[in-house]
Amino acid sequence: MKVTVVGAGAVGASCAEYIAMKNFASEVVVLDIKEGYAEGKAMDLMQTASLMGFDTKITGSTNDYGKTANSDVAVITSGIPRKPGMTREELIGINAGIVKTVATNLLEHSPNATIIVVSNPMDTMTYLVHKATGLPKNKIIGMGGALDSARFKYRLAEALGAPISDVDGMVIGGHSDVGMVPLIGHATRNSVKVSEFLSEEKMEWVVEETKVGGATLTKLLGTSAWYAPGAAVSSMVQAIACDQKKMFPCSTMLDGEYGLSDICIGVPVILGKDGIEQIVEIELSDAEKAKMQESAEGVKKTNGLLQV
Ligand code: LAC
Repeated sequence: MKVTVVGAGAVGASCAEYIAMKNFASEVVVLDIKEGYAEGKAMDLMQTASLMGFDTKITGSTNDYGKTANSDVAVITSGIPRKPGMTREELIGINAGIVKTVATNLLEHSPNATIIVVSNPMDTMTYLVHKATGLPKNKIIGMGGALDSARFKYRLAEALGAPISDVDGMVIGGHSDVGMVPLIGHATRNSVKVSEFLSEEKMEWVVEETKVGGATLTKLLGTSAWYAPGAAVSSMVQAIACDQKKMFPCSTMLDGEYGLSDICIGVPVILGKDGIEQIVEIELSDAEKAKMQESAEGVKKTNGLLQV
């Protein structure tokens, strides 16, 4: 299993690091446009191999897509991250051109790769990769829901005073501060609904803190987060590489599911060797359906800014 990670910034490097630490891929190529940068990150990571106990070979490349040839999975993290006070949507002008070029270059050398899109605004960048490449829809996956759900579980565990391993929950909808739909009504602690333990106010707090999870970190760090995004991507890559048939909420092209079409937005999917192997349609309450519709309108508005 060969994995390419485009972008050797904080998210791309964390992603390569977690993939290597999990030791399921034979090779990870990290590519960046900054001269020597990806090579440096790859060498530094490789010097942790004997200490951390992995055999994955990590190499770097300065914009030479030849080195990424025949990748099974390619992750696009390229583009600029947001600064404090910025929305993800504000990045579209710069990131759209970058993501389109990267996707085209990747597929030239790895026509059978499954692509995971991380660059923001993520749902719109995933849609752009569809329109620009014409790849089958199971092969293009947006990373948002896996990260947002991890942040949801973190806040749920905090509110419950419980270990994270006790908690389960999922965030669907767009990967934006206003568009996320944390499914609090479905969240559980050891299969008991969290509403058995938490007040309405506390559940509302969990939902709101989850939605601004990325913005909270951007404010603290001065740039966008990387550990949880990198870990979320590594779990998705592992699900594909190891054919795990694992369910994650991911941004995927919808064709009538959830009453939506011609849009990439977060819904539960099954990830396995063929990428998105199934879109899972779960029963939503009327309030959740309304939030999903509203979220989709926001994503479509951002998609309208694309020139494809
Ligand atoms: C975040 C970025 C990756 O939410 O969108 O941290």
